[in-house]
Amino acid sequence: MRIGILNSGGDCPGLNAVIHGVVGAASQLGWEVIGFKDGFEGLLPPGDYKVLRTQDTLGILKLGGTILGTTNKGHFAAKLGKGDIAEVPGDIVSKAKRTMEQLEIRALIIVGGDGSLTTGLQLYREGWPVIGVPKTIDNDLMATAMTFGFDSAVSTVVDALDRLHTTAESHKRIMVLEVMGRHAGWIALWGGIAGGADVILLPEIPFDTEKVADFIRQRDAQGHHSTLVVVAEGAHLPDGELATIAENSGGEVRLGGIGEIIARRLEELTGKETRSCTLGHLQRGGAPTALDRILGTRFGVMAVKLAEEGRFGRMVSYQAYHVDSVPIEEAVNKLRLVEPEGEMVKAAKAVGICLGD
Ligand code: F6P
Repeated sequence: MRIGILNSGGDCPGLNAVIHGVVGAASQLGWEVIGFKDGFEGLLPPGDYKVLRTQDTLGILKLGGTILGTTNKGHFAAKLGKGDIAEVPGDIVSKAKRTMEQLEIRALIIVGGDGSLTTGLQLYREGWPVIGVPKTIDNDLMATAMTFGFDSAVSTVVDALDRLHTTAESHKRIMVLEVMGRHAGWIALWGGIAGGADVILLPEIPFDTEKVADFIRQRDAQGHHSTLVVVAEGAHLPDGELATIAENSGGEVRLGGIGEIIARRLEELTGKETRSCTLGHLQRGGAPTALDRILGTRFGVMAVKLAEEGRFGRMVSYQAYHVDSVPIEEAVNKLRLVEPEGEMVKAAKAVGICLGD
């Protein structure tokens, strides 16, 4: 029996832990694992892949990135923008299928986020033996309580806030930290609460910069002369627009720039010196946390189990400390967003964090 694995979309900490888990579990069954390079692109003839033996995965558990490479553009990009889906053209699918047949791949494990799993769903519906593993630092996939990579991104945010805290205090400044997460505010919310942010601005909760400025003035009056603001890159500007840098070649919008806009506005409104900092791809790089190594390993092992049981078209899913699986279609085409009235938002407000609403 031979199975394939590929990583697709943006990289994230823990990808190598999944590969490690898949290769470990498959080798116990006496199966061979083929790792396709650079996402689905590796499936295109003549095929770009390597056989992964257990000795090839020694020591990779702790490494960031992916030993297979990945891409969020190319022939298989499924998303054109928020909500728009592009089908992978038939001739591309046929070419890739030929590689699958020539290599006699009996199951294909796709480790990806919303876009890559949407492609996976299309391939499954066209008869491919697909199994999905939920990956994204954004934590915005439906049907799983958590994706791997998220915890590592949150840890990076917390570390950044700890550092910004001391310099903000020394200078009595407002510090604005812009974090990733695309259209979901999970990284901002978790990172902000854990890192002791005073203000957290999310895509899911419209905010008013005047209210944030009032909050900062009150803090000043109470003797708190520095303020830490976390803003999600996908939060909406006061006019309802998104701050964008460009469109990438896949047509998906590249978010960025809201941190500096908010910083200038708060400086104007409060008269306090304000600086902004964009964490960017630091949130995607580096070693995975212990939680992401464990999640990645368990997800990889579960993916092999699904292959063994012939349960294709399913995605590994994390549900309340338990790793299980769901049909891929339950996970894609709808983002899992922060609930504005949810328990976490309420907890943030209860400890005095301002959400600008
Ligand atoms: O989806 C993961 C993510 O890191 C988002 O949080 C971010 O908006 C985007 O990818 C950045 O993509 P790129 O690496 O193409 O700049």
